Amino acid sequence: MRSTALFVLAALARFTQAVEPIVIKDGGFFGGDKQFFMVGVGYQPGGPVELDQGVDPFSTLSDCQRDVYLLQQLGINTIRTYAVNTTLNHDDCMSLFAAAGIYVVLDVNAPGWRYSINRDEPWTSYHAGYMANVFSVMEQFSTYPNVLGFFSGNELANEPKNANVTAPYMRAIQRDMRQYQKAQGLREVPIGYSTADVVEFRQDLGFYLSCIGDDEGHSDFYGINSYEWCGETTFQKSGYEKLTDLMEEVQMPNFFSEYGCNEVLPRTFGDANAIYSADMNHVFSGGIVYEYNQEVNNYGLVDVNLKTGNAKILPDYNTLREVYSKVELPTGETARKINRPKCSTVFPNIKAFDAVAAIPQLKEITDLIKKGVKVTAGKLVDVDLDLSGHKWTITDVEGNTVENPTIERVNTWNQVPSKSQTTGSSSSKESKNAAPGLKVGGNGLAVLAMAGLTTLGVMAGGLLVI
Ligand SMILES: *[C@@H]1O[C@H](CO)[C@@H](O)[C@H](O)[C@H]1NC(C)=O
Ligand SMILES: *[C@@H]1O[C@H](CO)[C@@H](O)[C@H](O)[C@H]1NC(C)=O
Repeated sequence: MRSTALFVLAALARFTQAVEPIVIKDGGFFGGDKQFFMVGVGYQPGGPVELDQGVDPFSTLSDCQRDVYLLQQLGINTIRTYAVNTTLNHDDCMSLFAAAGIYVVLDVNAPGWRYSINRDEPWTSYHAGYMANVFSVMEQFSTYPNVLGFFSGNELANEPKNANVTAPYMRAIQRDMRQYQKAQGLREVPIGYSTADVVEFRQDLGFYLSCIGDDEGHSDFYGINSYEWCGETTFQKSGYEKLTDLMEEVQMPNFFSEYGCNEVLPRTFGDANAIYSADMNHVFSGGIVYEYNQEVNNYGLVDVNLKTGNAKILPDYNTLREVYSKVELPTGETARKINRPKCSTVFPNIKAFDAVAAIPQLKEITDLIKKGVKVTAGKLVDVDLDLSGHKWTITDVEGNTVENPTIERVNTWNQVPSKSQTTGSSSSKESKNAAPGLKVGGNGLAVLAMAGLTTLGVMAGGLLVI
């Protein structure tokens, strides 16, 4: 086959339904008045490395151009990114993702002992230094309208015996994050948690994180990392039916924050069809396939050479693209009504772990919430979607070079608003980092915070949860 433009543009961005910040209503996510379903992949090229070398997933425009092209061609509307470094500038890349209609769910943690919670001894890592980095991620990223949510943690509890000790820290971190949002007038980006695929506590932890208590430490959403659907299976046999029943009882929006078993190869991604179907779409707001880039754990769709910048499309990319191109998203509203319980009724009924008392807030953290952290807030910039000067090459599965890659602009987020829009109002009650020209989602419904990346944490030695 001769190399030409690999894909037909017409298929692009069919899942991009919303062009404004996403908010939570009842059991679903909404952009404007339309329900939003995540069609996503995990995005952390390079994997679990410490981010102290001046590079992270949103710091190099030419890399983002390559990946936005490939992600847009894959037909997605959301990525999950596990770690960023707020000393870097992310405006170009975030603006490019925004222009391409791609939302970001972002973990507020990062590898390294200072930036993640130690799941065996969380009290040693929950301190003002840790929270300062969490707050800096919020300060910098809340201004980007395409940031959909923050994960306060990822798989902090990864076995029944550490749910006991870690669960109260999940609520403590979410409490601090929510207070920071309010005190500093940030856009109320939903805050939630990404839970490990552990059946013993998955539902109980959902109850625990959903309940409304005096601490305000609840999750706005619950992300489920699940690798139950392997090879050719069914809604019933895979365990997804059971999972849907369990999560329907948990009173908050749910989605798959990681999915895509690789125990049976090649992967067929049959679960993508189930997730958006009527069997599941009243409970789950879509999902995020693990993961974009090939790493040692062999889940990649694309193999990026981090030295040369060249990328090779892997067979699973084509399979997933085919599956996503056939998925029918619900056209109406499917989100169920939710009714959050009070913690006083939930706590005594949790069986899987002891829901111990709230972790007291440290004075240094309270001070930081009042004072704010110093970090440059992100802003949208005008980005060029022209890729003609690119230095990297992309090859397809047969080894042919992909010619003339292009990115399609699907919204106007990257167009710099006129002066009058940015400087016109000085109404101090307005959220200070609402994106220029965009209204702040003021319904206060969404609050999420998560903290860790399971896979990253495990690979980093079993203690670090990023
Ligand atoms: C960000 O980079 C700086 C400079 O290398 C480093 O000191 C800091 O630890 C990094 N932060 C994170 C979250 O990795
Ligand atoms: C949680 O801790 C309590 C004691 O604090 C203990 O009785 C219980 O067995 C623990 N649960 C698990 C699942 O380890």
